[in-house]
Amino acid sequence: MNIQLPKETTILVTGSAGFIGFHVAKKLLEMGIDVIGIDNFNNYYDVSLKESRNKILKEFDNYKFYKGDLKDLSFVKKVLNENKNINKICHLAAQAGVRYSLENPHAYIQSNIVGFTNLIDEAKNNNIQDFIYASSSSVYGNNKKLPFSITDNVNQPISLYAASKKANELIAHSYHHLYGMNCTGLRFFTVYGPYGRPDMAPILFSDAIYNKQAIKVFNHGKMKRDFTYIDDIIEGVLSALYHSYPYEIFNLGNNKSIELNYFIELIEKNLDKKAEKQMMDIQPGDVENTCADIDYSREKLNFEPKTSIEEGIEKFISWYKEYYKHA
Ligand SMILES: NC(=O)c1ccc[n+]([C@@H]2O[C@H](COP(=O)([O-])OP(=O)(O)OC[C@H]3O[C@@H](n4cnc5c(N)ncnc54)[C@H](O)[C@@H]3O)[C@@H](O)[C@H]2O)c1
Repeated sequence: MNIQLPKETTILVTGSAGFIGFHVAKKLLEMGIDVIGIDNFNNYYDVSLKESRNKILKEFDNYKFYKGDLKDLSFVKKVLNENKNINKICHLAAQAGVRYSLENPHAYIQSNIVGFTNLIDEAKNNNIQDFIYASSSSVYGNNKKLPFSITDNVNQPISLYAASKKANELIAHSYHHLYGMNCTGLRFFTVYGPYGRPDMAPILFSDAIYNKQAIKVFNHGKMKRDFTYIDDIIEGVLSALYHSYPYEIFNLGNNKSIELNYFIELIEKNLDKKAEKQMMDIQPGDVENTCADIDYSREKLNFEPKTSIEEGIEKFISWYKEYYKHA
């Protein structure tokens, strides 16, 4: 896939100092597209990692950055008023994480519901037609049928995080219906890669293995995840931005379910260190298995993930060692 967006496009990328937002913004900037980034640098995880990502983006002349919070309507109005040239929005800012939604539910309402609504409503007020946003595989909850298809029922979320993402899909539909906006929701499946999130398994496990601490292996290692490499996700996001369909939901996953035990083995191999495992029961809110049915994404987005878990973990660990200066 070789997506080319017209050079005169200006895209607002929210969460641009976040893991996926950073990679999407960087790719767009490299393509010569003007990018306006927004992030509030919240301290859900290591803020210095967000600063490192943003520093890389700031090296591009075609990048303009606003620090602020999407829950603040006056801030959202200001950014859109000052940038009447925005043609598309790629909304990736959110309070992410399933487990943290049990601890701090309000963060999810503020960022994922209030922030989302502020942004889509101001997009409508400023006649910005194309709105591409992050949903999540979490919306499938404890769906027993695998792989998860976009035609499956997603009315039984098992965490507030999942409920907030499902709510985003519903809000987007109402804006499409009422105002003719082009809204595409992307259900990402466990994304990993360089500059990844420190609250997710790849960095958590690597840190613990490196520091000779026990890793908590939930569901006794029997948990399975459809790990999707960041480069494949970027391709899917670019294609969604390019097509800007009237109203769609797509799964962006690797279409392969990987058992946690095998995933740990790969990290051990690449770090050349053994893990000490502390076997744990499954956590409330966690789902046992995820796998994306990507037939529809193949058909409409030409989406074809290319990175195997073996190759992806090798690239991730190589970045991890360099970034965290672990020889
Ligand atoms: N990484 C994954 O595996 C995964 C899987 C499914 C869905 N998603 C979704 O993809 C999107 C990007 O995820 P990520 O992994 O890059 O997460 P991330 O936490 O690294 O990035 C999100 C960024 O948004 C910013 N942010 C949060 N709330 C904000 C607000 N109210 N105003 C302004 N900025 C705010 C954060 O500071 C952060 O930098 C999120 O919507 C997430 O829910 C991610």
